[in-house]
Amino acid sequence: MPSTAGLLAARTPVIKRRLAMAPLTSQTPAATARPPVFYVRSLTKVYGMGAAEVHALAGVDLDLYAGELAVLLGPSGSGKTTLLNNLGGLDVPTAGELRYHDFDLTGAQEAELTRYRRDAVGFVFQFYNLIPSLTALENVALITEIARDPMPPEEALQMVNLGARLDHFPAQLSGGEQQRVAIARSLVNNPSFILADEPTGNLDTRTSEEIMRLFRSLQDRGITIVVVTHERDIAEWCGRTIMLRDGKLVGEDRHPQKVFAHESSNRA
Ligand SMILES: Nc1ncnc2c1ncn2[C@@H]1O[C@H](COP(=O)(O)OP(=O)(O)OP(=O)(O)O)[C@@H](O)[C@H]1O
Ligand SMILES: [Mg+2]
Repeated sequence: MPSTAGLLAARTPVIKRRLAMAPLTSQTPAATARPPVFYVRSLTKVYGMGAAEVHALAGVDLDLYAGELAVLLGPSGSGKTTLLNNLGGLDVPTAGELRYHDFDLTGAQEAELTRYRRDAVGFVFQFYNLIPSLTALENVALITEIARDPMPPEEALQMVNLGARLDHFPAQLSGGEQQRVAIARSLVNNPSFILADEPTGNLDTRTSEEIMRLFRSLQDRGITIVVVTHERDIAEWCGRTIMLRDGKLVGEDRHPQKVFAHESSNRA
């Protein structure tokens, strides 16, 4: 059986091809050597009307770059999930600009958003959202039925080191293993990026670290990953922390990623 590293390496050309989708055009302000994957300006999301109006996003400006492992950090209600859902095409903004490469998510039709979610995005959630009556393999295989260019579900499960648990039902797996099945499910459509909403929110410290290590191995293979959390410890494993409060970006920190015991100390 090929090693996990071998499988990841084998997928890299596909991932690279996806990342090489049409770059932003010259309309991009302040053209840099590295155009962003996501271009977000004055992004606003208002829920409700009148007295019940909630400004979940109140003018967010953000660039996200290919290959980043970035964290959205902020207290409850600060707009983290709203921003993530807008990036992933699960929700649409009220106003502002939001582009993925040259795809304008603000003006997109529902069918285009569906295609975008199906082909480009991998979602991971806090409570795994696995179907209890399906095995690990079947939970992942379900996605391959709608994906355009899926990998074999066994391969996705091997990438998260669960090749030996294919026939286990969710109830027969630990929390960390269930989350890894969910990550395999997010990977099986060969996404360009993964959006993870509190992926470690339900896990103990050691298991959270395992999940972050897994995200890091995926980042090393060129997948862009955005992780939402309100735990500062989680942010340490990532290279960029973006802080949200009351629907606004209130700070940003780029820092060397904390090194796992097995890693060399020369990570950027
Ligand atoms: N569908 C909705 N309808 C009305 N208000 C909403 C809706 N979704 C979110 N909100 C409100 O928007 C604000 C931001 O919510 P959001 O879920 O993005 O916060 P969060 O930072 O993810 O919080 P948490 O850490 O608790 O998950 C909150 O005040 C929330 O009540
Ligand atoms: Mg949330």
